[in-house]
Amino acid sequence: MNILITGCSTGIGYFCAKQLKQDGYNVYATCRDMKDVKKLQKEGLKAYKLDVCDSNNIKETLSLILEDCEEKLDVLFNNAGYGQPGAVEDVSKSVLKEQFETNVFGPWELTNLILPYMRNNGFGRIIYNSSVLGFISMAYRGAYNSSKYALEGLCDTMRQELLGSGVDIVLIEPGPIHSNFRKNALKKFNENIDVNSSVHKDVYKKTLKRLESSEDGPFTLKEEAVYFALKKAINSKKPKARYRVTFPTHLFWFLKRILSTKLLDKILIKAG
Ligand SMILES: NC(=O)c1ccc[n+]([C@@H]2O[C@H](COP(=O)([O-])OP(=O)(O)OC[C@H]3O[C@@H](n4cnc5c(N)ncnc54)[C@H](OP(=O)(O)O)[C@@H]3O)[C@@H](O)[C@H]2O)c1
Repeated sequence: MNILITGCSTGIGYFCAKQLKQDGYNVYATCRDMKDVKKLQKEGLKAYKLDVCDSNNIKETLSLILEDCEEKLDVLFNNAGYGQPGAVEDVSKSVLKEQFETNVFGPWELTNLILPYMRNNGFGRIIYNSSVLGFISMAYRGAYNSSKYALEGLCDTMRQELLGSGVDIVLIEPGPIHSNFRKNALKKFNENIDVNSSVHKDVYKKTLKRLESSEDGPFTLKEEAVYFALKKAINSKKPKARYRVTFPTHLFWFLKRILSTKLLDKILIKAG
């Protein structure tokens, strides 16, 4: 089985690429930085440069991969992504665009380029790494929240449009997973949020403390929890629309169904 994964430099993408290869899959592991590509190649992976924000790079790399697998790409795992922290009123339009370029527009573009080949083969799995924040909302995470909600909407639409084509659309919804996610979020926070001129200055002290901590928060699982869901999404005869990973994801999925929006808000504010 031929599998293309985005965002394999660290975290979930790195773990899944290595593990899938070990389990016998033909993996195309992609990273946006050449130094990471070389590192993965040294580790024996088929690695390519792919920046999901760069249309030319997407096209060039995809044509190399399609040539290598003779146009039989079975699985695309849209994994690359990051979280831009900050209150909605402190996130500029350009910063929000950047968030959507990586988390939504890039995967959208890549998916559309791959779909004709999957349709032609009568088989394909397009799997998205969404989040618990793709269906519940937390304060000071508006940019990330809205990008993951957008992914969820995109997938729910595509699932209907692709019915009967042989191509399945699957969402994985992890809660906290051990990775470089927080470190990268801290970088984006420092780059893009003007703390001192914000009315949320005091809350940001808590945000910084959380992002700077090297300790995993409660209920955090290792990358292999996502790998377990990914394997199910790849191998099930009839994959589910959603695979929820971690206790908080299951809990909030349930609470969202039974509580009023305002009551859920109160719990989420406390949890944040
Ligand atoms: N960790 C969690 O708690 C958690 C929970 C729910 C969902 N997720 C989702 O899981 C996915 C993977 O995140 P992670 O937890 O493994 O964090 P991570 O360790 O920070 O990995 C993120 C990956 O995305 C890559 N990336 C960022 N921008 C990119 C771009 N423009 N083009 C290509 N690659 C790009 C990063 O590359 P660089 O190294 O070059 O930046 C890195 O390889 C993300 O979509 C995230 O939203 C994570």
